[in-house]
Amino acid sequence: MALPKATLLSLLPLIAPTIAWGTLGHDTVAFIAQSFISNKTASFAKTLLNDSSDTYLANVATWADSYRYTTEGAFSAPLHYIDALDDPPASCDVDFERDCPEEGCIVSAIANYTNRITPSNISIAERQKALKWVIHFLGDIHQPLHVENLEIGGNGINVTFDGVTTNLHHIWDSNMPEKLIGGYSLSDARTWSEELVAEIQSGKYANASSAWLNGIDIKDPVASAMVWAQDANSYVCTAVIPLGQEAVEGKELEGEYYDAAIPVIQQQIAKAGVRLAAWLNLIVEGKTNSGGYETSDQTVKRGEAKLKDWMVEARRVRRAFGYNCGAEGHKH
Ligand SMILES: *[C@@H]1O[C@H](CO)[C@@H](O)[C@H](O)[C@H]1NC(C)=O
Ligand SMILES: *[C@@H]1O[C@H](CO)[C@@H](O)[C@H](O)[C@H]1NC(C)=O
Ligand SMILES: *[C@@H]1O[C@H](CO)[C@@H](O)[C@H](O)[C@H]1NC(C)=O
Ligand SMILES: *[C@@H]1O[C@H](CO)[C@@H](O)[C@H](O)[C@H]1NC(C)=O
Ligand SMILES: *[C@@H]1O[C@H](CO)[C@@H](O)[C@H](O)[C@H]1NC(C)=O
Ligand SMILES: *[C@@H]1O[C@H](CO)[C@@H](O)[C@H](O)[C@H]1NC(C)=O
Ligand SMILES: [Zn+2]
Ligand SMILES: [Zn+2]
Repeated sequence: MALPKATLLSLLPLIAPTIAWGTLGHDTVAFIAQSFISNKTASFAKTLLNDSSDTYLANVATWADSYRYTTEGAFSAPLHYIDALDDPPASCDVDFERDCPEEGCIVSAIANYTNRITPSNISIAERQKALKWVIHFLGDIHQPLHVENLEIGGNGINVTFDGVTTNLHHIWDSNMPEKLIGGYSLSDARTWSEELVAEIQSGKYANASSAWLNGIDIKDPVASAMVWAQDANSYVCTAVIPLGQEAVEGKELEGEYYDAAIPVIQQQIAKAGVRLAAWLNLIVEGKTNSGGYETSDQTVKRGEAKLKDWMVEARRVRRAFGYNCGAEGHKH
């Protein structure tokens, strides 16, 4: 690109914040997980969430996006993403030590809250919040632009979609999934989840989906979440800006761009649901490493890597932006 990264970042507009994968994406991930969790896990979750309905996971899937805007929950805003300080489309990669700052990130949060769901010395209220965070963050970590620093996860890249001015982050969170499904209600999410569950069980994902659980190790939540983060981040180079930022900036992306992106979105939502179910089963079926988070955090120190000047500047811009993501298109 012509200008140094720091200059481009300083030209960023101020964009009002909203939610991560929109409601549709999060609810769909939750419904897929409901299809694959064991009866024991389902019963554990219903009890902890005090919800015996058949939408018990979907009902809490976007709680974390409301909570982050409360005074009490403001600390959790930086936990919805990890800003990979890589160089797409030339190279994509995530590095926990480099990319997860002192205030935490989605990888450290998945580790922390995984280990706060079952221990009996943690209050029920805190365990319930931990479960709601894990349900939500397993969704967010599959959105490629939640695992990318460039222009604040694409929030600073203006685009139009179906004639509406918005930004690249927002169309990945919401516009593209909603165009595919035609709405964002709970029943839209249920319908989408049923389609994806069929593809996982006997359709186009049947062969690939067993490999989606590679690298999952409940005793090392940081390493497990990093597998999912690397996977999502790789799509920044291959599907989000394969031809660079300039190729999408200011463009209408409803046509060919959408056609190429939508299979990636479908597959990432399907993966998130399968991985969430597997992760919850591991947590509930007694294999959680109590204190696993501490072990991982001591061996891999976050927020202490030596950063290049442009990386320091990118992090400063993100903090100034207020840790949020997405443009205020419609709140739901
Ligand atoms: C799990 O629960 C469903 C209905 O809630 C029941 O049909 C099924 O037999 C149960 N499976 C096992 C292994 O208990
Ligand atoms: C559980 O839900 C029921 C019905 O929604 C409600 O009456 C009850 O107070 C809840 N209990 C707790 C501990 O939140
Ligand atoms: C884990 O979560 C608790 C509750 O939100 C928080 O107080 C604590 O600082 C977190 N620990 C780490 C290491 O992130
Ligand atoms: C809960 O117990 C574990 C040991 O089982 C201990 O390491 C941890 O510090 C305790 N946590 C709290 C909040 O007391
Ligand atoms: C992006 O759009 C915002 C309004 O939504 C505008 O203020 C800003 O100047 C635009 N940025 C660029 C680089 O076009
Ligand atoms: C899955 O693998 C089997 C055996 O290799 C193959 O016959 C089948 O066509 C594959 N299905 C899909 C949807 O790729
Ligand atoms: Zn989120
Ligand atoms: Zn988002």
